[in-house]
Amino acid sequence: MKRIGVLTSGGDSPGMNAAIRAVVRAGAYYKVEIYGIYSGYQGLIDGEIESLNARSVSGIINRGGTILRTARCAAFYEPEGRERAAEQVRKFGIDGLVIIGGDGSYRGAQLLHEEHGVACLGLPGTIDNDIGGSDFTIGFDTAMNTAMEAIDRVRDTAASHDRIFFVEVMGRHSGYLSMIAGIAGGAEDILVPERPTDVQTVIQTLRDGGDKGKRSMIVVVAEGDDAGSAFDIAKKVNEQSEFKQTRVTVIGHLQRGGSPTAFDRVLASRMGVRAVEALVAGETNRMVGMKGIELVLLPFPIAWEQRSLFDPSLLEVARILAM
Ligand code: F6P
Repeated sequence: MKRIGVLTSGGDSPGMNAAIRAVVRAGAYYKVEIYGIYSGYQGLIDGEIESLNARSVSGIINRGGTILRTARCAAFYEPEGRERAAEQVRKFGIDGLVIIGGDGSYRGAQLLHEEHGVACLGLPGTIDNDIGGSDFTIGFDTAMNTAMEAIDRVRDTAASHDRIFFVEVMGRHSGYLSMIAGIAGGAEDILVPERPTDVQTVIQTLRDGGDKGKRSMIVVVAEGDDAGSAFDIAKKVNEQSEFKQTRVTVIGHLQRGGSPTAFDRVLASRMGVRAVEALVAGETNRMVGMKGIELVLLPFPIAWEQRSLFDPSLLEVARILAM
């Protein structure tokens, strides 16, 4: 393994830069050349690739986003796209790739290896924390804290005006970010895609809260909830109940930006070093995960086959504490 390419793919997440830095510097340490690939798989197809050295990644451990930029690349999911990518890999003399992204990015990597023999290692980079085989993904901790701070701010104004707020949290098809941010922010109810939402039950929860003396309440809504967006659910509650003073806050892409927490920086740093070590040791088609406090190397399909981290006991904690 003489030359490794590194790219970020899918939605960006805080800590991706720390992971890039770790890959580049571990490469320098193990005397492997590192090439940065810009704009995800699209940059691989287009040959937007350049050599990086230890100094190229100075001062980025604390920066959100990704200096390599990122993209969701439809072309890579076609055999012709992967053929063009493999040509670039050969042209630049790259022996292995580190792919920082979600499970969709690993599916593409697996095909690239099967069809063209390119060694691929994945690092879980997404705020959604929805990758099987890893308790945490790079960016989740930062996004969770951002969402929690947003909920705290909403609570200030909700309490001042005796209002009910529906706060929408990202996570795509996963409610994990919502559950954790909701518990941390003391939400009265948390609606997630993993559990069907019944608007009448939400209304009853709000009535119970009112009966217990609550004058303002916060309902966290995961963006993938089956009953619709936070706006949809607030509208239904307005129409079907006496609760007319509702407001909606969609935290949105604020959750994707910002300086990564110490947890995300350390997770990304450890994982980046491990990815380089694994490629140097001849591993391929593996993702680096974290189980407990240990890093593990797992076959790519674990990422999508064991993806749900849904834990009903977390919702139970939220319900018990909404007293
Ligand atoms: O996967 C990360 C994520 O932020 C999801 O939580 C969200 O559904 C999606 O990406 C948003 O994607 P985009 O940035 O393309 O709007």
